[in-house]
Amino acid sequence: MEVLVLRQLDPAAPARLRAADGSPAITGWALDPLIRHLNHGSFGGVPNVALAYQQAVRAQMESAPVAWFPPLPQRIAGVRGQLAPMLGIEPDRLALVPNASGGASVVFNSIQLSDGAEVLVTDHGYGAVTMGAARAARRVRGQLRVANVPLEADEDASFDAVWAAVTDRTELIVIDHITSPTARRLPVGRICAAARARGILTLVDGAHAPMMLPTAIADADADFWVGNLHKYGCAPRGTAVLIARPEVADLVYPLIDSWGGDLEYPERFDHQGTVDLTSWLAAPTALHYIEDTFGWDRVRSYTSDLAAWAQASIVDALSRSFGVDCSVEVGMPIGPIRLVKVPAPLAAAHLSANGLRDRMIAEAGIETAFTSFAGQGYFRLSAHAYNTTDDYIDFIERAIPLLVKWAHESNPEPPTINPEERREQ
Ligand SMILES: Cc1ncc(COP(=O)(O)O)c(C=O)c1O
Repeated sequence: MEVLVLRQLDPAAPARLRAADGSPAITGWALDPLIRHLNHGSFGGVPNVALAYQQAVRAQMESAPVAWFPPLPQRIAGVRGQLAPMLGIEPDRLALVPNASGGASVVFNSIQLSDGAEVLVTDHGYGAVTMGAARAARRVRGQLRVANVPLEADEDASFDAVWAAVTDRTELIVIDHITSPTARRLPVGRICAAARARGILTLVDGAHAPMMLPTAIADADADFWVGNLHKYGCAPRGTAVLIARPEVADLVYPLIDSWGGDLEYPERFDHQGTVDLTSWLAAPTALHYIEDTFGWDRVRSYTSDLAAWAQASIVDALSRSFGVDCSVEVGMPIGPIRLVKVPAPLAAAHLSANGLRDRMIAEAGIETAFTSFAGQGYFRLSAHAYNTTDDYIDFIERAIPLLVKWAHESNPEPPTINPEERREQ
C-alpha cells in the first residue's frame, strides 16, 4: 500500500530523463533492462554509441595492425586535447592511464620517498589503493599511517582529523576526493594546500569525481590527481586520467616502459606499446553523447535529486521493516551517491558486504553495492541518467524483504564470488 503511494502519488519523485525522441534514457545504454542497475559507481555503464565507436575503431585495428599502431600516440594526444576542456584542465597536464588504480600505481612507482618515510591515508580509502600506499611505504622501510575520519565529520573536523595524523616523517598523503565505502567528500583542496606548504606530496584519488564534480581537479590542486572516466563519465572501461602539477610532472612515468620513455610528461603516457587503447579513443564519444542527449548539468542535478529521493524512500522502508533507524549522517555528502544503514549482522565487514552484493544479483537480479565502515554495513546507491524511481521502488518491494529474511539466517552472506576480494581491506 505504502509502496503504491510512492509509485503513484509522490510529487517529490523526479521525472525520468528521456532522450530528445522521448525514449527512456536506459535505451541509450547497453544495460540489460531486465536487471536493476543501482550501482553505477563501481564499474560504470557505457552508452551504445560509445561502444559502437569503439567497436568500429577496433575493427580498423584488427584489419591492419601495422598501419594502426605507429600513429596511435598522435591519436591519443588528440583524445587528450578533446577530453581536457571537458575536465577543466589543459591537455598538457593530463595523461591517460587505464584506471584510477593504475594512476595511483604510477605515482607510487615514480616518486622517491626517503628511508623510513610515512605515507598517510584515511580509513575511508579504497582498499586496493591503500594496499599500494602501504607497499610504497614498506619499500623504504617506512610505514603507512591511517587517519580516522568520523563518517559525520564536517569539512573542518575532517581536515583536523587528517592533519592530526601528519608527522615529521610524512612524505605523501593519499586522500580520496569522493570515498568509496562511505560516499562522502573529503576537504582535498585544504589538505593539499596545507601539505604543499609543508613540503609533503599529495595524491588525490578522484576515481568517482570526473564529470560528477565539474571543477574537481582545480578544486583539489593536488600534486597528483587520478580519476576514472569509466565511472560517472560513462566512457568505455579502462579509461582514466592522471593530472600532475607542472612542478612534479617530470617525476611520473607510465607503468609500461615504451617508446615514449624519453619524451616529456604527458606525451610519454601516449605510448603504451601494443595495447588495445580503443577505450581511450572512444571516451570523448561517451562524454559528448551525454552532453548532447541530456546535458551534463541536467544529469548532475537529476542524479542528485533521484539519489536523495531514493535514499529517503529506502531509509523509510528499511527502518520500518527492521524496526531500527537506518538513516545515516554523512559529513560532506555527494549528490548522486548515497548511503543507507543496513542493520546488523548484514554487511558488517568488507567481505560480507561483497557477499551480500553477489547474493542480491543471484537471487533478485538487482545490481547493488553494499559497503562496510567501522563495523557498520551500508547500502550504497549510486545513480545515473538511466535510473528511475521504478528502480528504487523495485528495490523496496523485492530487496528489502530479502534483506529482512537473510538477516535472520545464520550465514546471510555467502563467500564473495571474486577470490581477489576475499581478503579484508
Ligand atoms: C575511490 C576509488 N578509488 C579507486 C577505485 C578503483 O577504480 P579502478 O578499478 O577503475 O582502478 C575505485 C573503484 O570503485 C574507487 O571507488
